[in-house]
Amino acid sequence: MSNEIKFKLNGDDVIYVGNPLRRLLDVLRDDFKLTGVKEGCGEGECGACAVLLDGKLVASCIVPIGAIDGSEVITIEGFRRTERFKIISDAFAEAGAVQCGFCTPGMIMATEAILSQNPKPTRDEIAEGLSGNLCRCTGMNMIIEAVEIASKNGGGKW
Ligand code: FES
Ligand code: FES
Repeated sequence: MSNEIKFKLNGDDVIYVGNPLRRLLDVLRDDFKLTGVKEGCGEGECGACAVLLDGKLVASCIVPIGAIDGSEVITIEGFRRTERFKIISDAFAEAGAVQCGFCTPGMIMATEAILSQNPKPTRDEIAEGLSGNLCRCTGMNMIIEAVEIASKNGGGKW
């Protein structure tokens, strides 16, 4: 079996050669130095390690690198180059939704996943979309409000 895995990472074609059972999280952080992807629980429960895999939010700590051959991965480093990132990050600042910042990259990726599916979500839909992401500092209400502000300010961008 070949252990060569080709995928698109933040818009670039990349090749990983090595153990296909390594976690996507470790490959992103250790091999590609994308340290905006955080490790919290390591068990798929907190969302700190969230990335977009073919446009869907996934916990990179529970995805083996071997499972992503041919896929497209976007991390916060890639998303940061977009106009939508700016809208979301301004909304987080406006809502006071960032304290220590540890959960923020994952929350921002989750927000992008929510708004790209549904540009005008209700509060319940936002809460549901953020249900895989935990914040130990800020009340979730402020983060939900941030998503509402991004939705309001992002007319036409999603
Ligand atoms: S570190 Fe992956 S979900 Fe918590
Ligand atoms: S701002 Fe600290 S964990 Fe969310």
